[in-house]
Amino acid sequence: MRMVDLIHKKRLGEGLTDQEITHIVSGYTNGDIPDYQMSALLMAIFFNGMTSEEISALTLAMAGSGEMIDLSAIAGIKVDKHSTGGVGDKISLIVGPIVASLGVPVAKMSGRGLGHTGGTVDKLESIPGFQIELTNEAFIEAVNTNKIAIVGQSGNLAPADKKMYALRDVTATVDSIPLIASSIMSKKIASGADAIVLDVKIGSGAFMKTVDDARVLARTMVDIGKKLNRNTIAMITDMEQPLGREIGNANEIRESIDVLRGTGDKELTEVAISVAAYMSVLGKVFESFEEAQEAVRDIIAKGKALDTFRRFVASQGGDPNVVDQPDLLPTAAYHFEVLAEQEGYVNQIDAEHIGIAAMLLGAGRAKKEDQIDYAVGLTLNKKIGDSVKKGESICTIHANREEVKEVSAMILDAYRIKSTKPAPVQLIYDVIV
Ligand code: URA
Repeated sequence: MRMVDLIHKKRLGEGLTDQEITHIVSGYTNGDIPDYQMSALLMAIFFNGMTSEEISALTLAMAGSGEMIDLSAIAGIKVDKHSTGGVGDKISLIVGPIVASLGVPVAKMSGRGLGHTGGTVDKLESIPGFQIELTNEAFIEAVNTNKIAIVGQSGNLAPADKKMYALRDVTATVDSIPLIASSIMSKKIASGADAIVLDVKIGSGAFMKTVDDARVLARTMVDIGKKLNRNTIAMITDMEQPLGREIGNANEIRESIDVLRGTGDKELTEVAISVAAYMSVLGKVFESFEEAQEAVRDIIAKGKALDTFRRFVASQGGDPNVVDQPDLLPTAAYHFEVLAEQEGYVNQIDAEHIGIAAMLLGAGRAKKEDQIDYAVGLTLNKKIGDSVKKGESICTIHANREEVKEVSAMILDAYRIKSTKPAPVQLIYDVIV
């Protein structure tokens, strides 16, 4: 099989066979196929797309290119959850303890964040003592004992995807639906998930900018899941503004604890309840979404989800006292208020700009090797629909430096304050099953 012929075939818009796709993925992973040929193929895929058979074959080939985690020693249906990413997205930290409390085993492998704020494991590492590296045996034992463990992604998980993603990044081929869908699903399949809830974000802070694009991506991923015998549901949720009110690593742990206590931001709580309910349905703990939703509200109200969070933190070496004494989490030295320059209603908060502002403070990484400052971040005092008086604080900056002019300007720029009250924000646009 010659790579040049396969590129030519795809350039003509013809479909590649399973064997051809396996040959390409293994050849690229082991270095037999050079970057320049793979780049040409990726561009041909970008323009000509792939059939659902090709996308499933690509997903399986990328998943099988490295370690395939075997979770069969964990009883029950292992339901994973994935978000396409956004600013202030701490849903995994909230839904993990909730569904574990309902009996769904959570065996989650999460990546570190590159960009605005840390990923789930970075946020967890802001808890003093928390260990994100466990051996596979310790990981499985922790899930069997506490129903939940969250660890860093193994370096050898879907290496083909890692290499292809890096190449896509520099060849303008990231935003191709078949490539995004197979990339995300390959990592979920390799991490051993039996079922998957996908949270596809849309809006200024997300990959997908429109509901229609998000629907196509969601449908493509749900179809891959079905073809590969992983029950999959995709929710399309809002990322026009950051999720919740806190951005930054320790900040997001604090806010997740508030939601688990039942005193968190209303919109964040509603999205988390829905994600947790769908996970419980896929975990076959409940038959209907409505029944699951009620049980999720009840488990929070009874304090059981927060108890599970305490146990989970302690089991991975973290200090569970952070739950009742949030000051034990890293705290920034300086706090600055960003004041509204006019009165009116918040109509828009550009999530991407807010994310970049948090990253400039040190809450995220601009480069892989950057160190995160767990203590810094932002608190959004005003969200879309809130009324604001001139001179009132719209956002608090938590910094470990005395000078935050650039960050402050960026936040002011992200907020659009107008005299008219906007329509209420829609939190969940669609659910694709
Ligand atoms: N996230 C992924 O894991 N892969 C993509 O291609 C895009 C987003």
